[in-house]
Amino acid sequence: MNLISDMQIPVRRAPHSRIHEVDWGNLELGQYNSDHMLVCDYSEGRWFGPEIMPFGPFSLLPTTLAFHYGQTIFEGMKAFRTADGRVHIFRPEKHYERWVRSAERLCMPVVPSEVFMEGMRRLVQLDREWAPGSTGSALYIRPFQIATDFRLKLKIAESYRFAIVCSPAGNYFSRPVRVKVEREYARAVKGGTGYAKCGGNYGASLFPTQMAKAEGYDQVLWTDGVSHQYIEESGMMNVFFVIDGVLVTPPLNDTTLDGVTRDSLLVLASAAGIPVEERSVSVDELREGLERGRVREAFGAGTAAVISPIWQIGIDGRDYTIPVSRDGGSIGPELKEALDSIRYGRTEDPYGWNFYV
Ligand code: COI
Repeated sequence: MNLISDMQIPVRRAPHSRIHEVDWGNLELGQYNSDHMLVCDYSEGRWFGPEIMPFGPFSLLPTTLAFHYGQTIFEGMKAFRTADGRVHIFRPEKHYERWVRSAERLCMPVVPSEVFMEGMRRLVQLDREWAPGSTGSALYIRPFQIATDFRLKLKIAESYRFAIVCSPAGNYFSRPVRVKVEREYARAVKGGTGYAKCGGNYGASLFPTQMAKAEGYDQVLWTDGVSHQYIEESGMMNVFFVIDGVLVTPPLNDTTLDGVTRDSLLVLASAAGIPVEERSVSVDELREGLERGRVREAFGAGTAAVISPIWQIGIDGRDYTIPVSRDGGSIGPELKEALDSIRYGRTEDPYGWNFYV
């Protein structure tokens, strides 16, 4: 048996690549998976046997705990191909820090960083041809962990599977989105799991989103779960507003995900001299700001969607349109360009964010 301490990650290669099947102009997340995946299991108090192997199905009993009680976590990262043809993973350490917090909240053992980081590096290196080079596209990396005990008793599992799969991805949203301020349902509540990247958060968001879609919106703008007065996130992303020329985003707390794109945009905005505030934004402030033209931009930010402009916001039955700036002076596009320039290697990476494989 292969213990983690000797850091052997054997590679079982796929007999042939499936890369020729990819329609590169039409990349829906998860539609194509790269040739290999990494798998590592945990039982009897230790991680063992990490292996890179051909992408393929898992065989699990129907009583596997993850199917029933939601003990699952995941991350979303991206690998980019830079102009000189090299491939890097964007800010993996920051994702691993969040992974640790998610695992702790869900009572899961934390996979060692050697397996997470080094396993991912080797996997992406092996499947580097799958990283598209065009701006807006990347190789999406999905580490996840599930409870694998096969018992129906509700308890903290004693065995787990950690895996990483990769999928080439284009733009998540093809156009600016219309969002509805959600005043009834909650994504997260104080003391809950909002800050963790656990499957249940996403499953529970589907119904309110479906209701908003029935009204013609693309996403919900989540408010706090107690008063429904303060904006928290947008759909599956963090949210930013430009109010009176200041870039404003709600602060981090246990109901908000500590987004890596969010953090990167805050750093880039400060470096560009754009005034930034991490503070609460009430629905009343948002409504008034939209009515008076003080809210000039709104956008969601996340790994999958990068920066997703919001063109209309529905508040209590009334829609407010944010005029799309055509003078090139908008902050969202400026920040996206700054981020893309680093990620696609068009400028230097002064922050050491690109982790070359
Ligand atoms: C991401 O942005 O990476 C996410 O995890 C969102 C996911 C629902 C695609």
